[in-house]
Amino acid sequence: MTVAKPSARPAQPAAACRVCGGTVSAFLDLGRQPLSDAFRKPDETAQEFSFPLVVGNCRDCSMTQLLHEVPRERMFHAEYPYRSSGSTTMTAHFTAVAERFLAHELGGADPFIVEIGSNDGVMLRTVAAAGVRHLGVDPSSGVGLTAQHGGVRVRDDFFQESTARDIAATEGRADVIYAANTFCHIPYVDSIFAGIDALLRPDGIFVFEDPYIGDILDRRSFDQIYDEHFYFFSATSVRAMARNFGFELVDVERLEVHGGEVRYTLARPGRRRADARVAALLDAEAHRGLAGPEPYERFAREVYAIREDLRTLLTGLREQGVRVVGYGATAKSATVNNFCGIGPDLVETVYDTTPEKQGRLTPGTHIPVAPMAGFRADPAPYALLYAWNHETEILAKESAFREAGGRWIRYVPEVRVD
Ligand code: SAH
Ligand code: TYD
Ligand code: ZN
Repeated sequence: MTVAKPSARPAQPAAACRVCGGTVSAFLDLGRQPLSDAFRKPDETAQEFSFPLVVGNCRDCSMTQLLHEVPRERMFHAEYPYRSSGSTTMTAHFTAVAERFLAHELGGADPFIVEIGSNDGVMLRTVAAAGVRHLGVDPSSGVGLTAQHGGVRVRDDFFQESTARDIAATEGRADVIYAANTFCHIPYVDSIFAGIDALLRPDGIFVFEDPYIGDILDRRSFDQIYDEHFYFFSATSVRAMARNFGFELVDVERLEVHGGEVRYTLARPGRRRADARVAALLDAEAHRGLAGPEPYERFAREVYAIREDLRTLLTGLREQGVRVVGYGATAKSATVNNFCGIGPDLVETVYDTTPEKQGRLTPGTHIPVAPMAGFRADPAPYALLYAWNHETEILAKESAFREAGGRWIRYVPEVRVD
């Protein structure tokens, strides 16, 4: 398997910013990558789609973003395999989000909550159970069906201006529009904001939570970079984007889920007083130089070092004939495997609880994905923790692996075995 040279400079050094039209300067080229959630059937022979995964930072508005866009229909469709409810931590997280909206954000007589990217209904089913009017919008009809079975109303569609106008015309305006791990997937922010403007009540709020670039840099979690994650938000870039489209950033909350996220709340100008947390995070970002190139360039160097270390470790274990398996067939792992050249020769099987991924091969490097039972029935001495963002939950339920002498391999923030 060929691996790009550590000295490789991004083949394409710059592009136009999808938010402000300014100059996006590339800082890391992760090579050609497959679709991160396209788990392949073993008998499939068609050539896999691939695209150049290059990430850069806008010199003008500070938004970190991909330089190449993958057509949305390739990623989000009936067979999209990601299930939000696959983690008990995330399920509890979204139940709490719903309860908070129900308790604090529904002022009017006939409140209405819209979720963009409602997936299997993990958040909205609590809203539905409370008898509150709601609508999920999600183009992946497989996950949408699961949501509907849980009592959630879903529109099988991409959210964009036309969708939002149609919903506003038929169902009225929303008190809250919410998107978790979805807004960062959508390059066409102009259409999203036009849609939010059409659908949100004058006093309504648009709330979204996504991986935070500050945490990605600190934790060196380069595997957050893949086809679906188009933007990597900061308070600085979100404030600029919101202003550009007639909204104001009024709150930011740091979240521990998915390796560090921020929940942003936007409102129309003058409708809500900005929480002091906004200024505090903006100051912290200015202080660490997030608007300049240095933190991104340092990150790129650290990522190449991680690749070196991980390859050294895994090839060393292979030479000793020691078995290594993977834990969690995450979308993130596509970046790790394809950037570091990890195939079935280095990691024999990846175990995962998602039925839609089992019996298939990981994108690009074709490691078999198997049901979690095998992890316990046929324990290997080493397990590469691809689902590191769910570490607390996983280590609690897999304590027997460690007790039997098994060792976890981690690759963020550095390669470590314990
Ligand atoms: N909110 C869930 C799901 C995140 S996965 C969670 O946080 O776990 C992202 C979801 O967004 C997928 O279900 C995908 O189908 C959906 N999605 C992608 N683009 C979208 C768009 N333009 N409009 C609405 N949903 C979209
Ligand atoms: P996740 O890290 O949430 O997201 P992404 O795919 O966007 O990187 O994916 C977690 C994957 O790990 C998902 O396929 C389910 C699987 N998983 C397990 O197999 N066991 C577990 O205990 C948990 C929490 C997740
Ligand atoms: Zn910009």
